[in-house]
Amino acid sequence: MNAILIKHGTIVTASETFQGDLLIEGERIALIGQNLSHPSAEVIDARGKLIMPGGIDPHTHFDLEMFDTVSSDDHYTGHKAAAFGGTTTVMDFVVQNPGSTFQRDVDIWRRKAEKAAIDYSFHMNLTRFDPQVAADIPSLVEMGITTLKVFTAYNGRLRLDDASIFRALRIAKEHGMLVMLHAENGDVIEVLVEEALAAGHTEPVWHALTRPPQGAAEAILRVAGMAAVAEAPLYVVHMNTAGGVDMLQYARQHGYPVMGETCPQYLFFTIEHLRRPDGAKWICSPPMRTAADNARLWEALEQNIIQTVGTDHCPFFYDGTTPILYEGQPVAIPGKELGAHDFTKIPNGLPGVQDRMPVLWTEGVVKGRITPNQFVAYTSTNAAKIFGLYPRKGALLPGSDADIVIWDPEKQVEYGVKHSQQRTDYNLYENWRLTGYPEKVFLRGRLIVENERWLGHRGMGQFIKRHAGEVL
Ligand code: URP
Ligand code: ZN
Ligand code: ZN
Repeated sequence: MNAILIKHGTIVTASETFQGDLLIEGERIALIGQNLSHPSAEVIDARGKLIMPGGIDPHTHFDLEMFDTVSSDDHYTGHKAAAFGGTTTVMDFVVQNPGSTFQRDVDIWRRKAEKAAIDYSFHMNLTRFDPQVAADIPSLVEMGITTLKVFTAYNGRLRLDDASIFRALRIAKEHGMLVMLHAENGDVIEVLVEEALAAGHTEPVWHALTRPPQGAAEAILRVAGMAAVAEAPLYVVHMNTAGGVDMLQYARQHGYPVMGETCPQYLFFTIEHLRRPDGAKWICSPPMRTAADNARLWEALEQNIIQTVGTDHCPFFYDGTTPILYEGQPVAIPGKELGAHDFTKIPNGLPGVQDRMPVLWTEGVVKGRITPNQFVAYTSTNAAKIFGLYPRKGALLPGSDADIVIWDPEKQVEYGVKHSQQRTDYNLYENWRLTGYPEKVFLRGRLIVENERWLGHRGMGQFIKRHAGEVL
């Protein structure tokens, strides 16, 4: 059996940091300890480097159709980009089609993901609800999908009414599933968008102005209350507001089984970025807010009020009429220019799957806001526990998958679109100077990234069935 011995590194988990060696045999971690040896293993000297579990991004949208286009990373290009940033498992959202079954919808996503380059799992969007759909939900558990995403916004498209959300929470509770929440106020948004368009407001900033932050806060508390009544766990995705953090904190302090996720973009950018001439680059839902919101989200990470940092990676080109070179081929995919004259037509979403770990390390760990152990918890271990992958993923333990990042904490990177593997024509962190970057990334014992070299390939990623997770 193929063996790799990583020696003299600093092992960093969600709870501990220690000097040690780590032995990989085949696809698994075989041993962790001091002064390990092996008769035939390839030895890697990790002196001065950190050994961490591969990142888990619980929130991606690859190959997602939206507004007459499609997100510009697919299940190969997005996986490859993720791997360069230290992520070895991603969780993508399956679209629920009208009149379909979950099995058929999942089959569509399984086919899209045949080109997977890292391990992956799915969440199911629950955007239509009736007795037949309700009866079909347990079939997801057999497919290894134990999560349902519901929306309190996107009226007439994705939103469920409160009664349906409450019923879904009860079914989730009964079957060991977790409901994920996109929290905004769909009705308020409808009114404000109509008024803004009638007044001739077409610029990107109106995307944020018509989706007020109070909508996120009230929707989080509203659905957290329903979760408490249903005694069902709830996970709030892409949290972007101080008010939302306050509501999450209130709910958790009152014993509601509610957890939260934020994304790097909400830690750094504000509505002012949407006022720029290229403001469409920052359009996603929910939108960027203020510096005070950024600060409160950082506080939520410092104080463990929020449990994960995902990305909501859903990239589009800024100028989808001009090709870029991707793996030597010209590629152009319609993007943000679709909404040049109407903010409601700008495809919603941002790149970030590669950026997440290096940016969070530089801004979080290097700047002393979070510890290296919190970094591992937020980027890997907590997601594994919440989503039913632990201890196979998110852990450095004998028997766990050998998804490992050898992290160079000293490496300096001039970051930006040229450095990134994400298949789009811009990067939110253009010209940022990063300190700390993956040096080697292993997926189930196989080296897939070595510095700037890609050693992975299409189809090597596996679909991972998930079991019931934990409430953290
Ligand atoms: O703008 C975003 N976030 N697009 C992806 C869909 C979602 O709601 O997560
Ligand atoms: Zn969402
Ligand atoms: Zn999303």
